Formats: sequence, structure tokens, C-alpha cells
Amino acid sequence: MNICHREGGQCAEMAMVCLTDFEEYAKEHLSKATWDYYAAGADECCTRDDNILAFKRIRLRPRILRDVSVSDTRTTVQGTEISFPVGIAPTAFHCLAWHEGEVATARATEALNTCYITSTYSTCSVEEIVAAAPNGYRWFQLYVYRDRKLSEQIVHRVEGLGYKALVLTVDVPYTGKRRNDIRNQFKLPPHLKVKNFDGVFQQEASVPEDYGIPANTLDPSISWKDVYWLQSITRLPIIIKGILTKEDAELAVEHGVQGIIVSNHGGRQLDGGPASIDALSEIVDTVQGRIEIYLDGGIRTGSDVLKALALGAKCVFIGRPAVWGLAYKGEEGLREVLQILNDEFRLSMALSGCRNVAEINRNLIQFSKL
Ligand code: FNR
Repeated sequence: MNICHREGGQCAEMAMVCLTDFEEYAKEHLSKATWDYYAAGADECCTRDDNILAFKRIRLRPRILRDVSVSDTRTTVQGTEISFPVGIAPTAFHCLAWHEGEVATARATEALNTCYITSTYSTCSVEEIVAAAPNGYRWFQLYVYRDRKLSEQIVHRVEGLGYKALVLTVDVPYTGKRRNDIRNQFKLPPHLKVKNFDGVFQQEASVPEDYGIPANTLDPSISWKDVYWLQSITRLPIIIKGILTKEDAELAVEHGVQGIIVSNHGGRQLDGGPASIDALSEIVDTVQGRIEIYLDGGIRTGSDVLKALALGAKCVFIGRPAVWGLAYKGEEGLREVLQILNDEFRLSMALSGCRNVAEINRNLIQFSKL
């Protein structure tokens, strides 16, 4: 809980109280290039920053005198119970933050009994991740490659390993322009690899690299028909990550997927798009409960979680805060991050008169202030 900072030979105790404390720690202790990579947004970072500001604009309408002596934060996603409605969004390269990387993430999420979406761009292999936390509840995040056989192989691999859903990220036909990564000429250090594809790509020096894999590996021609293709090669539920409009939400339902993650990729792709919390309501209204809707982007406090659930998300996911937890103390640091969010969420629920997640609804939101 406490961390010793050496300042001028003095040892000052610093309590880790909220997620921002972990952010500050990560900024101070990670290399500049790594910090910049995790923090990056596209272009002017308007959308990245608005993800956070938009939560601050929302006001709650608390109910009182409702006996909140007992509270229950449990919920389900895709029919599986998790301890509270916060999971880990897929983020790349956890070994940059902590030497054990995704293995530490897997252990922390197993311990807290929540959902861990493993990124395609992991620096541990899916086999290592599953071995480290055999009872963890996991989904796998997928990109579609020009070489469909490559996508197909990884789908079958994770299916065989017991992953419970595929999260198809649809907002990266091309990588967004992250200025500091360009300035820093960001590259994975030579001892780290995109482990799931180790040895698959014959990287030639002449081929430019895009975040650990050869440039042009992702297929920008991906379209809705690829959802049918994915359904034809797997029996796992498919969740589409990166939807921001009611039109695309309707198409997702029509194409028979099992869930949507409302997301702008943490503001790392299109700059100028909406904050994800601002996009949520139109999607919830259109989907009308036909499939589950989740959200990521800008979740930093327990009351952010409450607001997202009040606006119709079944569960939310954290990206950068998970990496800050890892940077602090690996598995233990991420457990602390999740525990703080859990405690804050439980408190916000109680202070607004909710005893369980089923009692969280739109009446909690003060729409006149939006
Ligand atoms: C991401 N994100 C991401 N998404 C994805 O589908 N596959 C990936 O490999 C990655 N990698 C990645 C790396 C880093 C460093 C960041 C910050 C983000 C996006 C991620 O899943 C999520 O949408 C955002 O991070 C959510 O916003 P917050 O919680 O970081 O504000």
C-alpha cells in the first residue's frame, strides 16, 4: 500500500490512494519512450482527453435512506459471474511495464475474479498466460490480418486454451498517428517480442516495423462480411470493440455478434471522435438489450464505473490504469488498482442508494446537466 520514494536521500512514504497515484508513479519510473507510448493519443489528443473530461461533466442523482448496510458488486458478462463490473481492456506490451508482463496481469485478474482481455500484441504467449493463471476468465482480442490463415490459427489456438470469447477490434484499419511515438521512433526493445507470433514473421531489415510486427500486416479491407467469416471458423462468442454510433451498433446486432465494446481505443485512433461515455446512450437506446454493451475509455474512479452502468453498460474495462498498476508492482500493483476501483465503486453505489448492480439505472443520471 505504501511506497518509499527516495528524494535527496530521504525516504518519504506515499500512500497509493487513487488511480492517479499509480499514473504519477508510472510516469516517474518508466522510460520516456515507454511512458509516451502508453500515454499516447492520436494527433492533438482531443478524444483521449475528452474520455476523462466527459465523465467529469456527468452529475448523479443520489437516493437516500435505502439501507445500504449490505452491498453486492457482482455481475455477469456473457453469462459468467465476475466480482465487480470492471475488467482489463486489451493493451499491448505489458513486459515494457513489468518484467513478467501479461503473466502478472493474468494472475491479478484471476485473484480478483474479473475478466482479462488479452491483447494480440502480448509480450507473453497465450500459452504462458493460461499456464500462469489456469482458472482465470479471459477473452482474446483479435485483429484481422491480410493473411487470414494467421488469424485463423490464433483463433483456434485460444479456443483450445479455454478463452471464452473473441474481441474483434475494428477501429484500426490503419494505426492512428501518435506524435510522440514518431518523435521517439518507438520500437520494442530487442529482448521483447509479440510473443504470439514469435518466428511467424520473417522480419527483413528493409520492411518497416509497426509496433512489433511488419507494417501492413493488418488488413484495412476488413468489412462486415469478415464477421461472418469469423463466425464460420469459431464457436466462441464474438464481441466487437470500437463501435461509436447507433448505425454500427444496429449492424452489429444484425450480424449476430454477442456484444459491443463502445470504445475509441483510448483516443489513439481517430482524433475528434466522441468520448466513449458520450457515445454510449445512443447505442444502448438502439440495441434495446438485444446484446450486452460494454465500455472502455477514461475510467479512472469508482463513480465513473457507476455512471457508465447507469447509462447502460453491463461492464467497463480499464486500459492505461492496468499498465500503471503493473509498472508500480506487477501483479500486486494491478491487484491494488483493481481493489481501489472496487472499493470506490462499492462506496459510490452506497452513497447513491444502490445495494446491487441491478439497482443502478438511468434515474441516477442528471440529464439536464449533460
Ligand atoms: C491500447 N488499446 C488496444 N486495443 C486493442 O484492441 N488492442 C491492443 O493491442 C491495444 N493496445 C493498446 C495499448 C495501449 C498502450 C493503450 C493505452 C491502449 C486500447 C485499449 O483496449 C482501450 O480501448 C483503451 O486503453 C481504453 O482507454 P483507457 O482506459 O486507457 O482510458
